[in-house]
Amino acid sequence: MDNLEKAKKELLALFSHELKTPLTLISGWCQVLQDHKIIGALNTKQKHAIDILSANSMILKNEIENILDTKKLMYGAMLFSFDIIELNRFIQRIIDRFKPITEEKKIRLVNQGKKRIVLRTDEDRLEQVLSNLILNAIDFVPRRAGVIKVGAREKSGQVTFYVKDNGKGIPKNAQDKIFEKLFQEDSSYRRKHFGLGLGLFLCKGIVENLGGRMWVESQWRKGSTFYFTHPKKIKSRHFSLRRRHH
Ligand SMILES: Nc1ncnc2c1ncn2[C@@H]1O[C@H](COP(=O)(O)OP(=O)(O)OP(=O)(O)O)[C@@H](O)[C@H]1O
Ligand SMILES: [Mg+2]
Repeated sequence: MDNLEKAKKELLALFSHELKTPLTLISGWCQVLQDHKIIGALNTKQKHAIDILSANSMILKNEIENILDTKKLMYGAMLFSFDIIELNRFIQRIIDRFKPITEEKKIRLVNQGKKRIVLRTDEDRLEQVLSNLILNAIDFVPRRAGVIKVGAREKSGQVTFYVKDNGKGIPKNAQDKIFEKLFQEDSSYRRKHFGLGLGLFLCKGIVENLGGRMWVESQWRKGSTFYFTHPKKIKSRHFSLRRRHH
């Protein structure tokens, strides 16, 4: 690695640390305020205010991670580390984390997992993929009537995950393009839907690094379902096996 590359890497690590630390503190304190056992009950208006703070710090954190990880993905420098997890509980934990956002928008986010499935995977990366898909779905479903279903099915040596929404849908001619970096399908949604257009590029990249594939099935005005597969046994050629440092 030459000096310039090294300097860039160090800068990136610093940048990431500087941005993430204060945000982690903000969301941590929001959680404290949301827990009536720690700090006492809040009135409805106070709770609403904290929910909005908490929801938006989560969105911002996701955005920062997307920027940093897109770079890693492009340089082939994304690291993975593996553990065995149970998927129902894993999905439920992610859904619980979205509560401030779904409650604020008055929509339903449902765990459809029924059977117990265990999987050896990179938990943080898998969470990143599902969180990005869920955040997109949240943005495009209607307020109050929105329903998002998340689940996983095991079949012939692989697990297929899905995130299904009853949002605005994606026209046929845009369905491949949405996985490209910086692509956003309809600029008239820009004012309602924030973001940089990195989420799906990153999701697809992570899934492919783990040996799976990702696609979408969608009908305009009816809704979209994002699917991705994850092999039960990951072959080592799919990823760099160095452990990630925290
Ligand atoms: N569930 C969905 N329903 C309808 N359109 C979607 C959905 N998910 C993604 N899209 C379309 O695909 C585009 C790209 O999505 P992607 O997640 O890559 O970027 P983004 O959400 O716009 O920004 P970022 O993820 O970086 O915050 C979106 O701008 C939107 O046009
Ligand atoms: Mg997105």
